[in-house]
Amino acid sequence: MCGIIGYVGEKDCVSILLNGLKRLEYRGYDSSGIAVLNKEDNRNEISMVKRVGNLKKLEKALSKKEMKGSLGIGHTRWATHGKPHRLNAHPHLDCKNEILLVHNGIIENWEPLKNELISRGHKFISETDTEVLVHLVEDYYNGDLVKAVRKALNKVEGSYAIVVMSKKSPNQLVGARQDSPLVVGLGNGENYLASDIPAVLEHTNKFLIIEQGEIANITKDKVEIYDRNEKLVNKSPFETNWDISSAEKEGYEDFMLKEIMEQSIAVRETYRSHVYKYKISLDESNLPIDIIKNIKKIFIVACGTSFHAGYVAKGVVERFARIPVDVEIASEFRYKDPIIPNPSLVIAISQSGETIDTIAAIREAKRKNAWILTISNVMESSAVRESDGAVYTFAGPEIGVAASKTHTAQIMICYLLSLYLAKVRGEITSAETAYYLNILKEVPSKIKSVLDNHSKIKELANIYYKFPDFIFIGRKYGFPAVMEGALKLKEISYVHAEAYPAGEMKHGPIALVGENCPVVAIADDSSVYNKILGNISEVKARNAPVVALTTIGNEKIKNLVDHVIEVPKIPEEFSAIINVVPLQLFAYEIAKKLGCNVDQPRNLAKTVTVE
Ligand code: F6R
Repeated sequence: MCGIIGYVGEKDCVSILLNGLKRLEYRGYDSSGIAVLNKEDNRNEISMVKRVGNLKKLEKALSKKEMKGSLGIGHTRWATHGKPHRLNAHPHLDCKNEILLVHNGIIENWEPLKNELISRGHKFISETDTEVLVHLVEDYYNGDLVKAVRKALNKVEGSYAIVVMSKKSPNQLVGARQDSPLVVGLGNGENYLASDIPAVLEHTNKFLIIEQGEIANITKDKVEIYDRNEKLVNKSPFETNWDISSAEKEGYEDFMLKEIMEQSIAVRETYRSHVYKYKISLDESNLPIDIIKNIKKIFIVACGTSFHAGYVAKGVVERFARIPVDVEIASEFRYKDPIIPNPSLVIAISQSGETIDTIAAIREAKRKNAWILTISNVMESSAVRESDGAVYTFAGPEIGVAASKTHTAQIMICYLLSLYLAKVRGEITSAETAYYLNILKEVPSKIKSVLDNHSKIKELANIYYKFPDFIFIGRKYGFPAVMEGALKLKEISYVHAEAYPAGEMKHGPIALVGENCPVVAIADDSSVYNKILGNISEVKARNAPVVALTTIGNEKIKNLVDHVIEVPKIPEEFSAIINVVPLQLFAYEIAKKLGCNVDQPRNLAKTVTVE
């Protein structure tokens, strides 16, 4: 998730680019950069400024620099490959300092391409995946920038939205997209390219959407768009009536809904960043092979939603890698004088990487000589810096206080990590790894199909919002998802909800159920399906209204429960990442129905830096 922008016209575009980036800052803010081409007196001079940190840093640097140009590109970065550093900030340049490029997305095959380019004499200065693209364009450039970009893109695998400019083509911008968004903003004697509409909404309300595989060739008076087969595409512009604030949410009512809806992308980017050709790469983790082979135990420390991801991790690490795992609430860990045998691996899960309880747990584990791995959505966060290694989720910035897309991205990392550990320890073969990766590759489209069912879940919320108490039940791999479902309902709708392993109900909590206390049960296809069916019958016998989350095609369960939410079929080990999504939507819709501010629930903060 990064924000990109480009301008071609007659105005001095530095402030246009900077203001556009400000509108895109929600997409990433660990570094940024702007480059412009000054064509005055035919001098064709490139000026570029990049800074680490948020856009204020770039703005300050720009205010001190004389910089002019009527062709330019800009970028605000959410680091994927390469830490936040000035050298890794975009735009990136070719060897001759003539071609400049900004990119949002992930080039999966950057490593072999980089090696190939280096062997042909190209000089790289960054650790990014992006830099291969600009060197490829350089290689293919023969006076025609569109052609060169097309040839370069034919070599890459992965996701991208790019904007390219060249000193040699001073009146032209080239943009292209595959899986990452890109729009053309149409002006009078000027045109724009941007990751999304708000970036240039103050200049135009007329837009063209660049579709998958398309390349746009843009001058100040002309926009040509070509499809994959190099055919010119005829597109009609559309006019938007968005105002700026709704546009930042891309038309969604709240950031939380936008982020829930972005989950298939967040999970796909996270998968793609760590898997290439059926091999899992966790290189940035630095996890030594001898530690993996010899660890006796894994401890997972985390808080809240990240703790629930830890529970998912426990299930799959024990299942695939056969290493015992304890999941610990981070705020409790350091006070219990934990017994950490040597060698042990401690995995901290923290979206922000700044949660003080999790950092304190890391410090305690370090004191006891454990090897610390942090799973975070933020590069160079405090938790990452205090750990021996890190693995990143690539969900992009999350603005809603209640976690959604970062959670499913965390779960994807937990799945990949479990398979990676299992493979290194010889618990699964390469063929089995490939088999499981094939299943995980399909997860984003399965999440998308759940999201497409949003209106059905909204109808259910319209029925259930009146109840003051809920119980969520699940078993085995279903339990972490109900813990998260209950937390989401509590925190954004202020409705009381408890999660229990379904078999535990009869040991006490069943006393609560009745016609005023609905039960939400995970009853998907799994090895414990018959068991959970028994538990559902028990609560039904006590008149509880029941919503069952069940696998598509299960008609029979409809005779037992009041309502069903259908989810696509997936092997039970990987079900949590799918099952949690409708529960987020259910909580969201109940909260909306109750008139709650879902983006900023009362008493909560996005990053909890106090004990
Ligand atoms: C709930 C939520 C919190 C966080 C918790 C840990 O929706 O967002 O429970 O999960 O505060 O935060 P991180 O993951 O940043 O350590």
